[in-house]
Amino acid sequence: MPIRHATLHQLKIFDTLAAEMSMARTAETLHLTPPAVSIQVKQLSEAVGQPLVEQLGKQLYLTDAGKSVAAACRDLFNRIEILEQELAALDKLEKGHIRVATITTAKYFIPRRLGEFSASHPGAEPTLFVGNRKAVLERLSQNKDDLYVLGEIPDKIKVEAIPFACNRLIAVAYAGHPLAGKKSIPPAALKAEHFILREEGSGIRLATENFFRTHKCKLNVRMELASNEAIKQSVIAGLGVSILSETTVEGSLAAGELVQLDIKGLPIDRQWNIVHPQNKILSPMAEAFKAYLVSTGIHGGSGL
Ligand code: PGA
Repeated sequence: MPIRHATLHQLKIFDTLAAEMSMARTAETLHLTPPAVSIQVKQLSEAVGQPLVEQLGKQLYLTDAGKSVAAACRDLFNRIEILEQELAALDKLEKGHIRVATITTAKYFIPRRLGEFSASHPGAEPTLFVGNRKAVLERLSQNKDDLYVLGEIPDKIKVEAIPFACNRLIAVAYAGHPLAGKKSIPPAALKAEHFILREEGSGIRLATENFFRTHKCKLNVRMELASNEAIKQSVIAGLGVSILSETTVEGSLAAGELVQLDIKGLPIDRQWNIVHPQNKILSPMAEAFKAYLVSTGIHGGSGL
């Protein structure tokens, strides 16, 4: 019988026997009867294929094979003890990874939420991936992270998603733009403007293209940029107008560097979602961060 047929129960009995060197004391310690101990030791010897103990007179001795098995049992039960401590720490949120992948636009608030959460959970080990929608969806399909922050719920991957904050897209221009301050501008008026668009694979680009397709309006795209920040600076510099997430331009709107254009049909009100694959088993720490994000939203106030 190969040793893999030995049971943890048998190894535990042998570990105790090696410490006590007496069938009777081993039985007492483990609340078993001496015959039960000796049957289990016999079966373990059969699994190992060699005798593990020898009885000379009243004295019990370990054979060489017995000494090797006893040393292995010590290693094994030490490791199990460490494992028990690790599991308890995970359960009590004393320790644990939070792997978050977020689309670029959410980088304006997710690091802050992660920072606050980590401050109140010193054992949290956060990692953050930032990429556009396409890159984040790729990671989601490969189950690389615990949680994903997305503007739109994917339709091709089975997920659980909880909306946790409003994700508003608005049209912006530089403060002195001729359309600034005008009311109910028809979307078609943007045909005459240089437009600055996010890159292929971006969620904002998708929403922007859908909006103009619905309004049968072809955009005059001057530049494609893979960064909200670069688009914002380009709009401030008067290179064109754009549609961006309100969270990325709040500071510039307040500072008067940018204005929101009153385009009919805008803003587009979507939601930020915290997403993970359906049936994914989240660690207690990742679960706690998810709950924290849902309860605090973007601004640390109410979620929606
Ligand atoms: P993006 O996604 O950063 O990939 O454009 C943002 C969004 O969908 O709102």
